[in-house]
Amino acid sequence: MTSRQINRQWLLARRPEGAVKPTDFVYNEVPLPTLGEGDVLVRTLYFGYDASQRIWLTEDGGYMPPIQLGEPMRTMGIGQVVESQNTEYEVGDLVEGFMSWQAYVIARSDGPMPLRKLPKASYPLSWNLSVLGVAGLAAYFGVTEVLSVTPEDTVVVSAATGATGSLAGGIAKALGAKKVIGIAAGPEKCRWIVEKAGFDAAIDYKNESLVERLKELCPNGVSAYFDNVGGDTLDALLLHMAPQGRVLICGAMSSGYTDVQIQGPRNYMQICTQMLTVKGIHLFFYRDRLEEGAAHLACLLAEGRLGVEENVFEGFEKAPELLPTIFSGKKPGKLLLKVGEPV
Ligand SMILES: NC(=O)c1ccc[n+]([C@@H]2O[C@H](COP(=O)([O-])OP(=O)(O)OC[C@H]3O[C@@H](n4cnc5c(N)ncnc54)[C@H](OP(=O)(O)O)[C@@H]3O)[C@@H](O)[C@H]2O)c1
Repeated sequence: MTSRQINRQWLLARRPEGAVKPTDFVYNEVPLPTLGEGDVLVRTLYFGYDASQRIWLTEDGGYMPPIQLGEPMRTMGIGQVVESQNTEYEVGDLVEGFMSWQAYVIARSDGPMPLRKLPKASYPLSWNLSVLGVAGLAAYFGVTEVLSVTPEDTVVVSAATGATGSLAGGIAKALGAKKVIGIAAGPEKCRWIVEKAGFDAAIDYKNESLVERLKELCPNGVSAYFDNVGGDTLDALLLHMAPQGRVLICGAMSSGYTDVQIQGPRNYMQICTQMLTVKGIHLFFYRDRLEEGAAHLACLLAEGRLGVEENVFEGFEKAPELLPTIFSGKKPGKLLLKVGEPV
């Protein structure tokens, strides 16, 4: 077989118990798949890393079907169409959407998220998986529509050096929020939040008292909280929300996502006594508005009102070893793996 006929893949070898490990995956080679009606064959160029990949590895799978043993690991990705049985996509098109850890994937446009045809643009291709991908879009719709941040707001963001959190803070600043505070682990990340990401202040949840720092930085309470972590951090924030404040549940990183059953907050009655609004966000509900969100984000970027941080590795062989770092400590920004070049 020529290299064009061989498909390289990383398969799920064993269901992880606790933290996911590189050895939960095994390398494999198979012939290229054959296309059916509506299918598009895509050569993969970038894989994006998302905490939700850990949820898909549970028996339950959460909001998507679980990845079965022997199946390629699912990922959000960017690729280039090499063969098409779908009139909407032509050979050479660059696309973004659900893919898997394979050199070639069959992609379809009728999944829970569209296979987006990427516009010709002057910005880097990888941005379509970071600031214009799930992280940026969840941050954008979360801040502008769910939290409806205004210049009156004191905003707090957890996992603030993460792909989503860093952009959520940046978008809140771009909307003119009065004060934007990020929460992260360690002094180095906290410095990055203020000096690079442009937040007004940072709280180091590993070395400082979250409650004391919230009192100090937000004497009138927090009016909008963008929660990426849940757990003790959410509990501390519930105690420190301003009356009628808004809380957005975007993720629950502190759970490690090893199970779909996640402990809710202990300070639950604060929702009642402070008349808080708690809402979730899930991008599947914005399926038909992703282009719109990406266009708004592209404007903020073009105007220099939003920064982008990417953490790009290279090489198909690295796919499994990067996944655990999402939970065990990674550099600020979106974690990406480059596996090919467009032609
Ligand atoms: N609802 C949606 O549609 C949607 C879309 C995109 C993302 N999300 C969610 O948003 C959250 C953040 O995703 P992301 O892609 O921005 O993350 P990311 O870039 O992978 O970064 C993950 C962040 O989580 C923090 N973290 C890791 N373990 C933690 C723990 N035990 N407690 C507290 N923080 C921890 C890390 O920061 P520290 O080192 O500072 O702890 C890290 O910055 C995830 O929960 C993800 O599922 C939801």
